[in-house]
Amino acid sequence: MKPFNPKFPFFLHGGDYNPDQWRHIPGIVDEDFRLFPLAGINSASVGIFSWTAIEPEEGRYEFGWLDDIMDRAAKQGMAIVLATPSGAKPNWLARKYPEIRRVARREDDTLGPGARQLQGIRHNHCVTSPVYREKVAEIDSKLAERYAGHPALALWHISNEFNGECHCPLCKAAFRDWLRARYGTLDALNHAWWTGFWSHIYTDWEEIDAIDFSMDGLVVDWKRFMTEQHATFIRNEADALRRFTPDVPVTTNLMGFFNGLDYWRIAKELDVVCWDNYPMYHERPGETEPLAARIGMTHDLNRSLKGGRPFLMMESSPGPTNWYHHNRLLRPGMHRMKSLQAVAHGSDSVQYFQIRKGRGGSEKFHGAVIDHEGTEKPRMFREVAQVGRDLQALRPVLGGITKAKVGIVYDWESTWHMAATQGPLKELKGDPVGNALRHYRPYWKRGIAVDILNGDSPLDGYDVVIAPSVFMLREGFGARVERFVEAGGTFVATWLTGIVNETGLCFRGGFPGPLRKVLGIWAEETDYLYEDERNSLEFREENPLGILQSFETGTVCDVVHAETAETVAVYGRDFYAGTPALTVNRFGKGEAWYIATRGDDAFFDAFHGALASRLQLPRALEADLPEGVTANMRENENGRFVFVTNFSSEERRVDIGPEPRRNLLDGGAEVSGSVVLPPFGVIALAPA
Ligand code: GLA
Ligand code: ZN
Repeated sequence: MKPFNPKFPFFLHGGDYNPDQWRHIPGIVDEDFRLFPLAGINSASVGIFSWTAIEPEEGRYEFGWLDDIMDRAAKQGMAIVLATPSGAKPNWLARKYPEIRRVARREDDTLGPGARQLQGIRHNHCVTSPVYREKVAEIDSKLAERYAGHPALALWHISNEFNGECHCPLCKAAFRDWLRARYGTLDALNHAWWTGFWSHIYTDWEEIDAIDFSMDGLVVDWKRFMTEQHATFIRNEADALRRFTPDVPVTTNLMGFFNGLDYWRIAKELDVVCWDNYPMYHERPGETEPLAARIGMTHDLNRSLKGGRPFLMMESSPGPTNWYHHNRLLRPGMHRMKSLQAVAHGSDSVQYFQIRKGRGGSEKFHGAVIDHEGTEKPRMFREVAQVGRDLQALRPVLGGITKAKVGIVYDWESTWHMAATQGPLKELKGDPVGNALRHYRPYWKRGIAVDILNGDSPLDGYDVVIAPSVFMLREGFGARVERFVEAGGTFVATWLTGIVNETGLCFRGGFPGPLRKVLGIWAEETDYLYEDERNSLEFREENPLGILQSFETGTVCDVVHAETAETVAVYGRDFYAGTPALTVNRFGKGEAWYIATRGDDAFFDAFHGALASRLQLPRALEADLPEGVTANMRENENGRFVFVTNFSSEERRVDIGPEPRRNLLDGGAEVSGSVVLPPFGVIALAPA
């Protein structure tokens, strides 16, 4: 696959750079450009919060400082990620057009009901306001017009980390319009939201306000609407840019599994996906590995959001951040491990927040490539420089894709429905990502690639599709799963999958609703256990997985009838002891599994491990991996590349197989057989 911008055929290495904040101190920019090559920095994201520096008063633009940066960058062959400044609005703009300031939801508004937020901070504009959209499009057009064709312009970075919501009259009115378009009539809306309950039937569109928590249909539609407003806000910016620079791709920096916006929808507006990655790697035993898997899954999400295209890691911290409770120093080697982890999962960049640490402002103690000390001497500078050299050596991997045979469904809208539903699900609502991670980790540990799927993603091409507590099913999902399994696929669903439709109405005729037929079960009741309470999951002696063990289970136990399915494991305790805890239904050429209860990590490892060997799912390395180590594969026209990463703070020995390969991260040295990885060590294997 081609790099996101073929004019810049290298891994971007750089990050947020704010020279506009240093304009009054001579020599700083000269010094920065002297330091860039020493750190292997070949890219900078400029202008992210520079609106006032570019337009100090309405209609008067100052591009001099930015021209200078762009030209210097071009001279050094750097790629500029040029930002639109809409993430923070100038004071003059907020004063002149108060409507661009957000209005908080009544409940969390400390300023009084429906009051506008005061000017300040950032990321708090109204996404609906026509004035704001117009003003943003204006400055975007100026930027695009000025730098169209500039040799350093590589990518547009629209705004910054979109988040939050606005309840101003404009947003409320737009919501009602959106609902009108979605439902057509008030009658249809009333039925979809079941408004007869507590006498909430709407008799006029004007009565609708997104503050009633008692109606999950309304709550989720409001989130869909806010996502849509953000999507069209982005499109408004992208349109302005594309008019002058049709060949320059656009992106906006996402925040992993951030729950506030549906990133599947947002990604449709972008040419390339990028995200900001701030894991707190440290050395506490037992914590690094689960975190590494979680971050791996988040990278995979970003790769999946654009159908497998390489993504960009747009931010990460060279050193500690300033916002964790404990801002631990990165142990030597951790910065490299964390940076190359992104590349191993499909990133074509390692970017930082920030290149030069500010002297003032609330992020003056946040990690940076260039410290207050100001030279190339600090340890983190040198570790960054190492990553710069690594990325040079990894050049053949650029654009490489990852072929995954396993897909895990993570549908934002479904997580919203579960969260908005009043029900005894408390423990399950809070952490849908952790829930998906239970299924992801066993594959991560075996070096088996996983894609993340939306509820409407195509399923063909996968060997295994997993739906972990996919509470809300989209129209047609059941039929698509049936076709997938019929054709030979393996489908896995768990407790609390298939409960409500897209407006939050429960499926009639027995859970798991549209999946009942393919799973061959009826989940009649669900038992929610006390925190300290356990049941057990006992495998039957003759079972297709060959697991001869019992496992601890807790939190949630569906009481299930096997209809056409075979019972593979049963509960060990309680009045439902002996009833199905794990079933498999043979359907066409494939099979569909139902996990009725939340087993412990050992259960998920055994279950998915058995599936992986039965189906002979492809691994990045043949041999088993030691604890804390994973392997990833990327491939392109230059061949297949395997990254092996040791996330543990101890040395690990890995068998890479008999055939000789070259380790790109060690000058291309030939390696084969048993290889020692130092603590936090990474190797990148290329064909010999
Ligand atoms: C986010 C923002 C940056 C900066 C960093 C600090 O990712 O996009 O502007 O605030 O956090 O970690
Ligand atoms: Zn608004």
